[in-house]
Amino acid sequence: MADLSVDIGGLKLKNPVMTASGTCGFGPEMEPFIDPSDLGALVVKGTTLKNRDGNPYPRMAETPSGMLNSVGLQNKGIDYFKEFTYPRIKKYNTSVIINVNGSTVEDYVELTEIINDLDGIDAIELNISCPNVKMGGMVFGTHLPAAEKVIKAVRKVCKKSMMVKLSPNVTSITDFAKLAEAEGADSISLINTLLGMAVDAKTRKPVLSTVTGGLSGPAIKPVALRMVWQVAAAVKIPVIGIGGIMNATDAAEFMIAGATAVQVGTAMFIEPTAAVDIVKGLDKYLDDYGFDKATDLISTLDKQ
Ligand code: SIN
Repeated sequence: MADLSVDIGGLKLKNPVMTASGTCGFGPEMEPFIDPSDLGALVVKGTTLKNRDGNPYPRMAETPSGMLNSVGLQNKGIDYFKEFTYPRIKKYNTSVIINVNGSTVEDYVELTEIINDLDGIDAIELNISCPNVKMGGMVFGTHLPAAEKVIKAVRKVCKKSMMVKLSPNVTSITDFAKLAEAEGADSISLINTLLGMAVDAKTRKPVLSTVTGGLSGPAIKPVALRMVWQVAAAVKIPVIGIGGIMNATDAAEFMIAGATAVQVGTAMFIEPTAAVDIVKGLDKYLDDYGFDKATDLISTLDKQ
């Protein structure tokens, strides 16, 4: 068995496979299917200061090789999380990461300060890339000065490892990655969903209530791989690859392209054991190809 452990900016993970935010609830929802302790890290659903009902239905649509969502960060807010969810998930024998969201810089800062006091939370994933909200999210992550403002402000107060989740809906993702690194991010996760839409030809109406939504799944994997490869070459901090990872081979491809770890999202809707299956499959891949350590696979792309 290979050594699967990886280090993402001072945070040691037992293996490189995490769940992607928004695809596994807050953890307890997955307990009938997997032991969350088998994951490298559990990234919980996007969390905000106050309760959010999310966008009106319909807010999911299937597409060829993918899925559109416009959930709109539905969650019950940090107070509910602290009282009801945190006591349960802090017991998992794995790293727990909260995906942090806000409409304003002040929201992000206040939420981060509350999370600082939760000893069982190992890191935050600063989400500046949700495409489904009118304020915050991608509004910050597609404009360099706005991104700088929020990353700087959160870094100032954040006492935990800080991962910044980037949007692919920009011309040059490396500019945002370099900015995040310069402003003190410990790691970078990418990509969040690609902005898309679906139309019902019978009714001539948009399928999603919000018209546009975020595309995920195998359809976006080549774009995600390309961006991970570019970002890994542009920064020194660890990169976490996300985008259409359905199996261990996909995970290995992201690591070869430069990712230190990966997140599994859409695959969890099809097979709720997918992330844990990928841990096992990655172990086998490393054995099959003669790697003693998962870290030896990172950035091994042979361009000859
Ligand atoms: C959503 O809740 O709309 C998706 C979250 C995200 O893409 O970051």
